[in-house]
Amino acid sequence: MTKAHIITYGCQMNEYDTHLVESQLVSLGVDMVDSVDAADFVLVNTCAVRGKPVEKVRTLLGELRKLKHARGLVIGVMGCLAQLEEGQQMARKFEVDVLLGPGSLLDIGAALENNGRFWGLQFKDDLHDHVPPPPQGKLQAHLTIMRGCDHHCTYCIVPTTRGPQVSRPADGILRELDTLLAAGVREVTLLGQNVNAYGFDGGRRVPGIPTFAELLRMVGASGVERIKFTTSHPMNFTEDVVLAMRDTPAVCDFIHLPVQSGSSRVLRRMAREYTRERYLEHVETIKRHLPNAVLSTDIIVGFPGETEEDFQETLSLYDEVGYDHAYMFIYSARPGTPSYHHFEDLPREVKTERLGRLIEKQKAWALRKNAAYVGRDLQVLLRGDAHDAAFLEGHTRGNHPVVVSKAVGADRPGIYTARIEHVTPHMMYGRLVGADGELLPELPRFTPEAAALANPLPMA
Ligand code: 5AD
Ligand code: SF4
Repeated sequence: MTKAHIITYGCQMNEYDTHLVESQLVSLGVDMVDSVDAADFVLVNTCAVRGKPVEKVRTLLGELRKLKHARGLVIGVMGCLAQLEEGQQMARKFEVDVLLGPGSLLDIGAALENNGRFWGLQFKDDLHDHVPPPPQGKLQAHLTIMRGCDHHCTYCIVPTTRGPQVSRPADGILRELDTLLAAGVREVTLLGQNVNAYGFDGGRRVPGIPTFAELLRMVGASGVERIKFTTSHPMNFTEDVVLAMRDTPAVCDFIHLPVQSGSSRVLRRMAREYTRERYLEHVETIKRHLPNAVLSTDIIVGFPGETEEDFQETLSLYDEVGYDHAYMFIYSARPGTPSYHHFEDLPREVKTERLGRLIEKQKAWALRKNAAYVGRDLQVLLRGDAHDAAFLEGHTRGNHPVVVSKAVGADRPGIYTARIEHVTPHMMYGRLVGADGELLPELPRFTPEAAALANPLPMA
């Protein structure tokens, strides 16, 4: 195996893990290539949280098996699905050679030594000590601060796939952060299933590990310009985190706080360990200390037993909070979760119809929230060319996606100020502003002169 390619499904954790395994492969002398066709080893980094990503993997593995028979392709499956019986059955059926659970990613070396026949499914504690080399040429990076989850939400497969929570000692986090900064990273997102419980594994304070609020302040002192984090669990949410955000200028005023449902009755059946009222108290605390906070959430519609009244409570909670953004999911019954085994799934039509109404609400709020930024100047991190190369794309500190036209002296990735001119529910469009607060002249579009004009100018 000399040429490898990884296909990634799922969350930011998986993206981080893909980077980690890629860097291991490279250090073992394997070249990373960017297509299946160019590879002799294809690894699929899987997600098991809903039925859809699992079905995508099933289809893909069917295709890969054909290539295995045609030209001896070696197939690997890593990530959450690998850890489940469901994934292992699939692996046998599709003649998968390498299987790596989320806790045994560093076994990739053993898999290579074994000529690509290896199944590793243990939760080892070597991952936290391991500092992967920084991504090259990127302004944004993920940084894992903990693995696993101690909660047992009745719909969720993650505690099974990723195991119990283990916080990463701060020195490893800060060492990795240093390598990121040295490589030119300017925004870092701290990752964990439940960052608010950082330092409290199995419900107990881990000696020698700071709290999340303390960690935020430590990361803030490193000199990184923008800090984001995800995901917060309302159950473990504490005011000291909001205060650390307020006091640490680099921490963006952006909180992703998954609510899942606005009905306390449904929340109880989900075993979320908070009520609607408690959740709203957290939101109030956030708004009191951070009046400009941008709030996003995850919502599941059609959880078993959810009535129209329960769903109405989700809609009214949405209005009470006024989210900037929400990820919305139809409940997916996952084998191995308590809700799959104990509750009856609602009819598909009921779930789809409710999702439709929720999406309408989400769009209306996103448009209203985004519209409030028109005419204002926002700090944007532009990571590269947009689809149309006359524009750059990136994110605000509040995590809104933005597209801006390239300007004289500001035509490449960097952190800039943009004046927002036009918005949709999904996107903000703007123009770059100079240090004097004046709009920068836009680059003439699509002409060779534009390129010539742009190139000799220094980076912003
Ligand atoms: N069905 C639908 N959505 C789910 N999520 C987790 N498990 C399920 C499931 N079984 C959603 C939750 C979580 C997000 C990552 O995925 O909203 O916050
Ligand atoms: Fe990420 Fe959860 Fe999917 Fe695993 S199951 S990849 S933790 S979203």
